[in-house]
Amino acid sequence: MQVTTQPMLRPMARLVGTGPALGTAAIPITTRRLLIEMPTEQVAKALFAMTYGPGGQSVTSKLLWNGPIDVDEISAWCDKYASNDFNDGGHHWVIIQRDPIVRNGPLVMGAIGLTPGDQAGVASLGYWLGEAFWGQGFMTDAVRAVVNHGFGVLNLSRIEACAFTTNPASSAVLRKVGFEPEGIRRGSAYKYGEWIDQHVWAALRTDLESSED
Ligand SMILES: CC(C)(COP(=O)(O)OP(=O)(O)OC[C@H]1O[C@@H](n2cnc3c(N)ncnc32)[C@H](O)[C@@H]1OP(=O)(O)O)[C@@H](O)C(=O)NCCC(=O)NCCS
Repeated sequence: MQVTTQPMLRPMARLVGTGPALGTAAIPITTRRLLIEMPTEQVAKALFAMTYGPGGQSVTSKLLWNGPIDVDEISAWCDKYASNDFNDGGHHWVIIQRDPIVRNGPLVMGAIGLTPGDQAGVASLGYWLGEAFWGQGFMTDAVRAVVNHGFGVLNLSRIEACAFTTNPASSAVLRKVGFEPEGIRRGSAYKYGEWIDQHVWAALRTDLESSED
């Protein structure tokens, strides 16, 4: 008698690097100097002041985003991303300095976020800090932590970021963290009535895995 063996049916293994499952909500990330936390209503005023008040233009002039119209816009953003499914707009965090302890509440410095790209497992990174906090390595720390989280926890495969060619500090942050340059997207950002070129940067999960060998 001929015996045929049927392959056993197994649940399909989740493919490495295909991104977080539906319903994955953000969790906080901690570094030696920073708390990278989901936004709450309590930080809305501080974020608004940094992007709209005196000096706010220095923050938004190198971003596609022109800044909020009013504090309600920031409050709505905080509300949405307090516990958001990654697949519905991404995960966005506020960056808070751990030290020194501030008497009147946490010292909110800026924001950082990962937005899903056009394919599962691909995300774009965006970030900004209030001007008072520039040049102290804070964003390099925050980007490194969020990228590690993106590959290690969110199961991403590729994280990309664009920086205006007029924004060398942003490109320096990405280079320091290990992003590779992929060229220039000419005239790809419209800002203040002008089309601006952007540097394209990306980090692959496999870059980091091979650098750990
Ligand atoms: C860009 C930004 C995020 C950088 O944050 P940061 O905390 O100041 O960055 P870091 O201190 O970690 O690193 C900045 C690096 O840029 C370098 N840098 C700053 N100005 C530079 C310039 N004009 N040319 C070349 N390098 C420059 C610094 O020397 C530093 O590198 P180093 O540590 O090797 O010396 C911050 O300036 C910011 O929020 N700007 C406004 C919003 C924005 O541009 N967001 C990014 C949009 S893509």
